[in-house]
Amino acid sequence: MKHVFSTLLLAILILPRICSGQDRLATVDLKNNYWYKNSIIYNLEVGVFKDSDGDGRGDFQGLIQKLDYLSSLGVDAIWLAPFQPTPGKDDGYDVADYYTIDEKLGTGGDFAEFIYQAEKRGIRVIMDLVINHTSDEHPWFKNARASKNSKYRDWYIWSEKLPKNHDEGMVFPGFQTGVWKLDSLSGEYFYHRFYDFQPDLNFTNPAVVQECQRIIGFWLNQGISGFRLDAVPFIIEIPKTGTEKPKLDYKFLTDIRQFAQSRKADAAILGEANVTPEENENYFGGNGDGIQMMFNFFANQHLFYALATGKLDPFKKAIRETKRIPEASQWAHFLRNHDEIDLGRLTDKQRQEVYDKFGPDTSMQIYERGIRRRLATMMGNNRKHMELAYSLLFSLPGTPVIRYGDELGMGDDLRLRERISVRTPMQWDDSKNAGFTTADTAFRPVIDFGEHSYKKVNVAQQRRDSTSLLSWTTDLIRLRKSCPEIGLGNYKLIEAGSPFIFGIQYELAGETLVILHNFSDKPQRSEFTMNGNPLLMDLINKNDQKPNAGKHTVNMPGYGYKWFRVAKD
Ligand code: NOJ
Repeated sequence: MKHVFSTLLLAILILPRICSGQDRLATVDLKNNYWYKNSIIYNLEVGVFKDSDGDGRGDFQGLIQKLDYLSSLGVDAIWLAPFQPTPGKDDGYDVADYYTIDEKLGTGGDFAEFIYQAEKRGIRVIMDLVINHTSDEHPWFKNARASKNSKYRDWYIWSEKLPKNHDEGMVFPGFQTGVWKLDSLSGEYFYHRFYDFQPDLNFTNPAVVQECQRIIGFWLNQGISGFRLDAVPFIIEIPKTGTEKPKLDYKFLTDIRQFAQSRKADAAILGEANVTPEENENYFGGNGDGIQMMFNFFANQHLFYALATGKLDPFKKAIRETKRIPEASQWAHFLRNHDEIDLGRLTDKQRQEVYDKFGPDTSMQIYERGIRRRLATMMGNNRKHMELAYSLLFSLPGTPVIRYGDELGMGDDLRLRERISVRTPMQWDDSKNAGFTTADTAFRPVIDFGEHSYKKVNVAQQRRDSTSLLSWTTDLIRLRKSCPEIGLGNYKLIEAGSPFIFGIQYELAGETLVILHNFSDKPQRSEFTMNGNPLLMDLINKNDQKPNAGKHTVNMPGYGYKWFRVAKD
């Protein structure tokens, strides 16, 4: 009885305070157009998500069937991997026609229906914009090869002789031998930063820039809210200035952002560029007039170092070094994506430490810099460690981007080539082929072995289990959404009293959050002081923290995490 009474009292006293904080924050959110600052972005590939017609490959109709799933997870925006016609040699990142849908995935009508159904559920759609290069089967390139007088010849980058630095600057070392290839038809070499079937477009040619704007305008008209701009540093490089330190044309970024917003005021561009924090500033633009969002690759690799070793200093430094960005700009944080984890900016010793913990076998490593595994397998399916990683992702200063299947703890298939290992079909249930397709054979094998087999890891089973990773992730997303301070507020790192504890404090419109993460698998005690000695309301458990003798002392379990909102008097 006493217990019931005290719970009731707690509810009467505390809940209105938590809620009133949120109400005030909700009005802050309304004042701006920065939808991308407080969204949960979910990345998926249509071809491996859900097959509706039993041909073994996912399609837009299948994706429509699963929109309610995404909506119940709390997704605000879907980032679609490339879905345009393609020979598929780089899983769609080799586009052969920018203006249509790959017929294997559906029709233009299916796409329109998908956009309508997503909008109806309040879900925005952003798409990959892969314009650094086309497929070598794109009609522009075919035309360009056919004649030096072709209108499209100058849309690509040619050299009569093999340039001196032809074997430098490859993005996929071990899988590429150079960045110039002899075109047997026209007898000249063409430039390709990526694979040799992906000729780079020539952005010093105004006709190419104009065409890219047409592509942007076209897809905005189809209901797209923004773009994940692929390979940004290579789009803006001027190749003739060398591959090592080429000159970069940042103005291109301001121009396409302005163009996109002239067509749709709240269109957003999210850039993929694994560059240093100083360079990143140029991508956001001095006044925030460059592209709005950038993936924080710098923090990501230092985060993996911290997760692997418990050594936090380089990660804290990375968060500090990526702090200063213009108001309209935003970092996108992620754990895993469709590529390898790129650890290229760590020292050799640091990278080795991450390999030792998360990818010890050479079959798990790739491109002399990364790991081609999913989060769950890297972490040995250790639930506490995975929760720590996810809780961090959702509480870092920026917008969280999650990868399909990570909400379940899906695994990888290292038998598949390069990065295809982390692109296996979504695991919906334990029926044949994971409920992904009714076909006998899925176009890409589902994971049917080991701890991460679809028989053990699937949506249907985890939906019914309130203790599953999926249920936990859904709660975490709900929690993140009740804390707009993270996406919109100011933040500072706090000294939390233990070398293993990462503490961060957010402020927005008079509301304050304090979030702690313990990177050690052993319990740690966090001690810190706060002005005014406020009560800290625990947003996950009922463990509110009162200061004692002017100090907060929080006992953190191994790999524990705590989210607090500061109480108002
Ligand atoms: C970056 C993409 O993330 C990757 O998957 C792709 O292979 C390259 N760009 C080339 O488009």
